[in-house]
Amino acid sequence: MARTPSIPAPAPVSRSGRFATGPAADVAAFSESISFDWRLWRQDIRGSIAHATMLQAAGILTPAELAAIRSGLELIGADIEAGRFVWKPSLEDVHMNIESELTRRVPAGAKLHTGRSRNDQVALDVRLWLRDEIDAFASEIRLLQKALVNLGTRHTEVIIPGYTHLQRAQPVYFSHHLLAYVEMLERDLGRLDDCRNRTNVCPLGSGAIAGSTLPLNRNLVARLLGFVDRRGAPRITQNSMDGVSDRDFMIEFCAAGALIAVHLSRLSEDLILWVSSEFGFIRIADAYTTGSSLMPQKKNPDVAELTRGKSARVIGNLMSLLTLLKGLPMTYNRDLQEDKERLFDTADTVRRCVRLTAAMLDHTSVVPGTCAAAAADPLLLATDLADYLVQKGMAFRTAHHVVGAVVAYAESKKTPLNRITGAEFKAIDATFESDVAAVFDLKEAMNRRTLPGSPGTREVRRQLARWTKKLG
Ligand code: ARG
Repeated sequence: MARTPSIPAPAPVSRSGRFATGPAADVAAFSESISFDWRLWRQDIRGSIAHATMLQAAGILTPAELAAIRSGLELIGADIEAGRFVWKPSLEDVHMNIESELTRRVPAGAKLHTGRSRNDQVALDVRLWLRDEIDAFASEIRLLQKALVNLGTRHTEVIIPGYTHLQRAQPVYFSHHLLAYVEMLERDLGRLDDCRNRTNVCPLGSGAIAGSTLPLNRNLVARLLGFVDRRGAPRITQNSMDGVSDRDFMIEFCAAGALIAVHLSRLSEDLILWVSSEFGFIRIADAYTTGSSLMPQKKNPDVAELTRGKSARVIGNLMSLLTLLKGLPMTYNRDLQEDKERLFDTADTVRRCVRLTAAMLDHTSVVPGTCAAAAADPLLLATDLADYLVQKGMAFRTAHHVVGAVVAYAESKKTPLNRITGAEFKAIDATFESDVAAVFDLKEAMNRRTLPGSPGTREVRRQLARWTKKLG
């Protein structure tokens, strides 16, 4: 889809009577945006058809003129789709390219821009584009959630150490760890939905800055383009100056995209650690790894590394947009043309990362042996040992101190915590009884975790079932 259009050398620009000459060649090359905004062509045509429909309803176009404009635009759309349309940088952008070709083919095309400016047109096109983009993006995020849940479901029994400070902390089900990312992505979807809500407002009718003296029907255009609320009522911008210069919805999208990229980057980091020989918790299929040009033994998690790396440019895109808007006087300024490449790059980059991460997870398997060996570390249950003492009536702070002493003792004896005898326990503190050995039964330890949101056996199964059902 994202193929680069064929762009011939700049031709003399067609400009109004105000100018004696066209722009200098280097000015034309500097200011064109067709090389990247051509991808708004569908939205531009759709918006123009709605605008023309409204102009006819307002008596500005005859039915015949509307019909000619509509079929002219549809034919241009078919040409673009088929790769037959020649984009001209001399016509600056997608809006001028389509309108000027329409007018060349259809005389009534000269009436299309009535009551409209490129300023409200570009605001409209990007809103239409982003609305569709968010919908497609959201369904891919759902697929990534599914991939996470599926991987967890394939390995429900697997327990790994959970880490804080990248030091072994407490045991968790592998799927509990994955479900943490499912939760993050769910919040991401909420943010995208929120952004979509503010994107879904029609700016057309704002004109260049101050609306129009013509009897335009803004609500009709909004309805034709699906800018409606849940009850079908049209949603239009309420201030013409804000309508042409508002780019908040793009910034919101880039912010939501940056956070998604950060979530994916963290997941990538976990996968990179897990696939290393030091952890050895997972294997990634050959098709989703790469080799080294020199070291024959290498199998590298490049998909995860690139996903981690690409978050940098996505964060940069957000910073670029914020900086672009800061200090910009009202209303439209050509600076705003710089918004689209950043927006497109965030959408394209994050979507690819989401898609590739899901595919990689579908081709990832767990190595149960290494996970079990790591999860068998009895130190992971030191907190359970303190809880055991609390159950016997000891204050937690005292229990913390006592267990600390037990750990130090085990370390000095070079004995695993679960190999300390009942007598040794009792010698450290009399509160310990013979049932202390049961604390180190990992399976039982996981059964003991019954709080909502905890990594306990029943709770994790419940969460997996909840997500499986929700994701269909
Ligand atoms: N290509 C322009 C953009 O991307 C469209 C709006 C141009 N408006 C203008 N008054 N020059 O922002």
